[in-house]
Amino acid sequence: MSEIIQDKSFSELLNLILLSTIAVLLGYIWNNRPKEEKENLLNIESKDDLPSQESVLNLIKARRSIMPKDLSPGGKLSEAEVEYLMECANWAPTHHNTQPWRYVVIAGTNNIIDYFDFLEDWYRDHREEVTAGDLEKFTAKADALKSILPTNMSHMFVICMKRQALPDKLLPEWEEICATACSVQNLHLGLTGLKGCGGFWSSHTWCKHARDSVQFKEFLGLGPEDRVLGAFMCGKVGSGKSFKSTRSHWSKKVTFRVDENEN
Ligand SMILES: Cc1cc2nc3c(=O)[nH]c(=O)nc-3n(C[C@H](O)[C@H](O)[C@H](O)COP(=O)(O)O)c2cc1C
Repeated sequence: MSEIIQDKSFSELLNLILLSTIAVLLGYIWNNRPKEEKENLLNIESKDDLPSQESVLNLIKARRSIMPKDLSPGGKLSEAEVEYLMECANWAPTHHNTQPWRYVVIAGTNNIIDYFDFLEDWYRDHREEVTAGDLEKFTAKADALKSILPTNMSHMFVICMKRQALPDKLLPEWEEICATACSVQNLHLGLTGLKGCGGFWSSHTWCKHARDSVQFKEFLGLGPEDRVLGAFMCGKVGSGKSFKSTRSHWSKKVTFRVDENEN
């Protein structure tokens, strides 16, 4: 020790002590960070554990929008399945890691009825702000959904976007909307991987006036700047049912500007 002191100037020694203390402190903070955060650290050791290229494409193509009328009456997702879907949704990409997606999970007849009661009350209280045609459309759709959702739908995830989830990271709204949409796609892909399950993203256009209202945001625990982007309705699908969709070829939507010599 005395040799070191002889070799180094006093200020160098002080720097050394300071840096060691900071390193020890950082190590302590890292090791004692909340358990939840530790568990959420993704550590995929090797890409060998991931599904093959073909499996990934198959999963993406197999994802279907399945409407409540096609869900099995009484079919329920388990708590583990719901938590799995929320975990899928939580791994969406996000600029500055602001993670703006929020979900309000609604399940059970009483909660579904409460949801519709709120919307109906809103339309009754704001009828002057809505055209007669829109009011009629809302009533017809709400009646139809009320008659089918309590039996056919297991869970509804109301899709919310928290504006400026991290106050020091100001992002344009479109980035937060996109990140939330990525989260919904993750949820939908996760659901596709769950056997006998299906669902779809409802924009809630039929109740768009209420959907975008401050009162509805309050009802969902959101602030006035936050957004409600509809709801994902899901449940169980009977075996043997299949659902089709089509896409025009990707080459119709892609233009290449590549240097042939470099590829
Ligand atoms: C943002 C978004 C909102 C949607 N809203 C509705 C909706 O309100 N009603 C509906 O029937 N489908 C809705 N869909 C589902 C589309 O109808 C569906 O994705 C499309 O028909 C293609 O079918 P597929 O998802 O099975 O490939 C929505 C999809 C997205 C991405």
